[in-house]
Amino acid sequence: MKNARLFYLLIVALAMMALVACGGAATTPEPEVAEAVATEAPAEEAEAPADEAEAPADAASGKVGIVLPTRDEPRWVQDETRFREALEAAGYEVEILFSQGDSARERSNVEDLITQGVQVLIITPHDGTAAAAAAEAARDAGVSVISYDRLIRDTDAVNYYVTFDSIAVGAQQAQFLVDNAEGEGNPLYLYAGAASDNNAFIFFEGAWGVLQPKIADGTFRIINSDEAVALQDKAELSREEMAGIIGQVTTNWDFNTAKNLAEANLTSATAEDKGDVFILAPNDGTARAIADVFATDTDVTSFLVTGQDAEQASVQYIIDGRQSMTVFKDVRTLVDDAIAAATALLAGDAPNATGAYNNGVIDVPAIQSPVVTVTQDNLVEALIDSGYYSADDFTGLE
Ligand code: BGC
Repeated sequence: MKNARLFYLLIVALAMMALVACGGAATTPEPEVAEAVATEAPAEEAEAPADEAEAPADAASGKVGIVLPTRDEPRWVQDETRFREALEAAGYEVEILFSQGDSARERSNVEDLITQGVQVLIITPHDGTAAAAAAEAARDAGVSVISYDRLIRDTDAVNYYVTFDSIAVGAQQAQFLVDNAEGEGNPLYLYAGAASDNNAFIFFEGAWGVLQPKIADGTFRIINSDEAVALQDKAELSREEMAGIIGQVTTNWDFNTAKNLAEANLTSATAEDKGDVFILAPNDGTARAIADVFATDTDVTSFLVTGQDAEQASVQYIIDGRQSMTVFKDVRTLVDDAIAAATALLAGDAPNATGAYNNGVIDVPAIQSPVVTVTQDNLVEALIDSGYYSADDFTGLE
């Protein structure tokens, strides 16, 4: 956590400098970022602004390869679409391959792209540690590696990390539950992402930081994880402790796993553990699967369920009152950041970085984007007025 504080201090310091420069007032700082450290920003980095998504004429000849984890989740199809639009507009040749939740396929996708002569690889690993070998193969072939959204762990073969503020994702999910809970002993069901994804830990860490004090003071009662119950008085958990909890409540980022786990949890819960329930669901796909299960249990009087990604199907669920919130991660920003980094790397420059994430071996220079809580109240403003979706994509919008 010492490293996280350093990163946090750096962000705050940079924000203050920017505010001083603009004559503005300081705002509430964001929560800490897990396993991140401060890095000195070398002079040349300052000259490569993050919003430089437009490729300069000479760099636009580069070939960029992209490997995404699966086509089975709308989240990654969104990324594919936004990448294609932005890279083609910037004049790059682009090849996008999907690994379909299989590290061996991911590796052969990377080999394929190396053979095709890509100079930059943008990759979201299926399994953060298993992807180290693929990153090393790319590095050995002279290809620069950008870790996209998920961090590749345990290797020095990663040049750069483009991400959202994943601590804030978990914190916003938890805050929504806290803000809507009254009284004591409210039943809380915890669900998490895949343990092979570093983000699952960061999301959980962010959520735990907000939920734990409200579990300790009796507002919530954890129903479905005795590992979490055993740790409920600890404000900060080690990675191993989180792994213990995640092992019990993982959805593996898979709809069926989420559905089966929710069914099993409700089967073993008593009527007293139901009533008005609160559900921490890690993302939209699993939220819909879990919500559908809770909706059919007659002992569940009401439930609130979180999500993330603002997937179209979940936005419709929110409009229909079947999912309570999502955390909007504007993929357009992430794509622009990745393209700016690719442009810098193709030009032989260091991409702009605002900090770094430790991946177990090195501090990977990183840039991270903010996220926004979306409920029925701000859905139109956040997702329609911003041009992310069109009103025609939904029914029942006023
Ligand atoms: C991403 C989420 C996504 C999840 C499952 C995470 O690493 O950050 O946006 O929902 O993986 O694919």
